[in-house]
Amino acid sequence: MKLCMIGTGYVGLVSGVCFADLGNNVICVDKDQNKINSLKKGKIPIYEPGLEELVLKNYRNKRLNFSTDLKDSVKKSDIIFICVGTPTKKGGNNADLSQVYNVAKQIGKSINKFKIIITKSTVPVTTGDEIEKIIRKKNKKKNFSIVSNPEFLREGEAIRDFIFPDRVVVGTNDIKSNKILKALYAPLISKGAQYLNTSRRAAELIKYASNAFLATKITFINELANLCEKTNINIEDISIGMGLDKRIGGRFLRAGPAYGGSCFPKDTKAIINTADRFKTNLSVIKSVVKSNKNRSNLLLNRVSKLLKNRFRNKTICFLGVTFKANTDDMRDSSSLTMIPVLSKKGAKITYYDPTGLKKELSKYKNVTFKENIKDALKNSDLVIIHTEWNDFKSINFKSYAKGKKPIIFDMRNIYTPTKINQQGFKYFGVGR
Ligand code: UDX
Repeated sequence: MKLCMIGTGYVGLVSGVCFADLGNNVICVDKDQNKINSLKKGKIPIYEPGLEELVLKNYRNKRLNFSTDLKDSVKKSDIIFICVGTPTKKGGNNADLSQVYNVAKQIGKSINKFKIIITKSTVPVTTGDEIEKIIRKKNKKKNFSIVSNPEFLREGEAIRDFIFPDRVVVGTNDIKSNKILKALYAPLISKGAQYLNTSRRAAELIKYASNAFLATKITFINELANLCEKTNINIEDISIGMGLDKRIGGRFLRAGPAYGGSCFPKDTKAIINTADRFKTNLSVIKSVVKSNKNRSNLLLNRVSKLLKNRFRNKTICFLGVTFKANTDDMRDSSSLTMIPVLSKKGAKITYYDPTGLKKELSKYKNVTFKENIKDALKNSDLVIIHTEWNDFKSINFKSYAKGKKPIIFDMRNIYTPTKINQQGFKYFGVGR
């Protein structure tokens, strides 16, 4: 089939290249000429394991192309995916849909034959209705259908999550569109993905509800971790014990720092805003947002205790600063809350991240990026393991920490406490 992906972020680019790899002809459109130029040279603007080779392979076999010409690309395609950003509005809870509506207007002016226009970006309930109105204004004929087909891609696992999704959700009441999308996703369904056809608004809400539930699950176990610390219980036992109940499941039940990323924070706020719009109260999700917001301060209090409230002439090493492992994404990373506070208290901060120096941290004078773990650990008084990269899972602290024995604060519970204690280090985890 002939597809057009509008927006080449990790949703548009990953979905586009995976659709091409399934045998479709795909044009990825972006208004950023520089981005398009580098994509044509095989330079990928995002860190996503496995993406570069897939782009190169499909670009070379001409199933994948890149363009800044939205109008021409839409005319050449049968199915148009809207994959532009829907960030939280500054200072508010609601999603900024300006990019989505702007693209809808341009699509409305480019319809030359029947088109299926799909929102793959995460958009609040009723956005499809709005897009329909916008396009109808530009295009009086009934030669288009607006469908919701949300993505469930995790950063760092996006290609795997596309090829092996638990479910493909398609929100439309249009029989013809549903049939075409079922054919488009047939290769994934034949590998076991569940195909679910719902109303368009249901599909829009399923996305937010899923992310809000996952955020709730994580916040639930993080709060239980606080209780475990007071009752000398190991939170890992609780996660395993709970997770063995198939109704609960063990995934997304690992205690850690506050959750971050480009989705959970944005989507929990947006679903609360949708509920407010329709005069109903999502009190559980509201408390999740509040609890997660407090978590970084709670962990900072723990750091103060570990350093006996003395920060001057202390060196704190962060291993990992992104919001989770296997990504270069700093959006809403808990390190962006913790590091500025520690820097302001006078501590010297070093950090190592496998994805390199972070511009977000360059403005702090006493925060330094180190090229490797060894240099980052040197002379540290406290080591904070912030993300669960494989690189951090078998560090021989003894060989790195000559002389000074840093305290290890393992915010991802990567290590076994006794093993680290046996090496002569004080070890603290989360919830144990
Ligand atoms: C999420 C959803 O998982 C994905 O389905 C959706 O399409 C986009 O948003 P992503 O934000 O990329 O994906 O990351 P995810 O792996 O979900 O992690 C989100 C946050 O939860 C991270 O800060 C991570 O560290 C944290 N987390 C995750 C935990 O603290 N504990 C866990 O057990 C799992």
